[in-house]
Amino acid sequence: MKARLERSLEERRQQLEQTTVARAQLDLTMPARDQWRGARHPVTQVIEEIEGIFRGLGFTIALGPEAETEWYNFTALNFPPDHPALDAHDTLYLGDNVMLRTHTSPVQIRTMQGNKPPIRILSPGNCYRRDFFDASHAPMFAQIEGLAVDDGITFVDLKATLTHFANRLFGKTKTRFRPSFFPFTEPSAEMDVECQLCHGSGCPGCKGTGWMEILGSGMVHPSVLEAAGIESERYSGWAFGMGPARIAMLRYDIPDIRLLYDSDVRLLDQLAR
Ligand code: DAH
Repeated sequence: MKARLERSLEERRQQLEQTTVARAQLDLTMPARDQWRGARHPVTQVIEEIEGIFRGLGFTIALGPEAETEWYNFTALNFPPDHPALDAHDTLYLGDNVMLRTHTSPVQIRTMQGNKPPIRILSPGNCYRRDFFDASHAPMFAQIEGLAVDDGITFVDLKATLTHFANRLFGKTKTRFRPSFFPFTEPSAEMDVECQLCHGSGCPGCKGTGWMEILGSGMVHPSVLEAAGIESERYSGWAFGMGPARIAMLRYDIPDIRLLYDSDVRLLDQLAR
């Protein structure tokens, strides 16, 4: 055993000595090859950060299909047939009544059908609309939907939660709520945050208003609760929807949404963290 060990030791020593000789011929002054370990896409980073904030508030993540039926995408969400609100939601149909979803709101319906209140979910996912691919629109884009349904939920819950969220995401910031319209909420409100570029004094980024719109929200319309099988006399809820690409653009100072969606990995290289 001892003789065998000594022999292998000796063999190995000779092998190593030979490679050292070979190595001496390498030019060790050549710059090393750069290492690229990859990075998460800025929209993914924003989604994950937002998920983290809402997880801390007791929300869970719910996902829904990108190919939806008209009933989930429109009817159950209280869009009357031929309503002008449908104009903004033109999309590709994949067959009779099956379409690429135009927003993540159908996940509200699927969640309420499958769960009893209390419900608190966050739902990120891709959506599709007939939009030109320009600096601020993309025909496929990410959205994040939020929904809370329980006994005694009021507009105070909506305002308090979304204000807390904005302060977590942007650091201490001012917010304001403006009346708006969505068929599936009543009342409805858009939430603005103080412009993150000029801090309220007015600049080209916020078109001089000092504010930036970041999401749509409102109290879930009773017809929407009923369509999903939730008693609207007993329960109430609030919901919101926002575009994480827009938040990524604000955060990383990206002037054109196409940079996020045209698959040039140099963008990831610049924003890797
Ligand atoms: N689904 C809306 C859209 O795509 C966004 C939205 C607004 C979602 C208000 C909501 C909400 O849940 O309450 O334009």
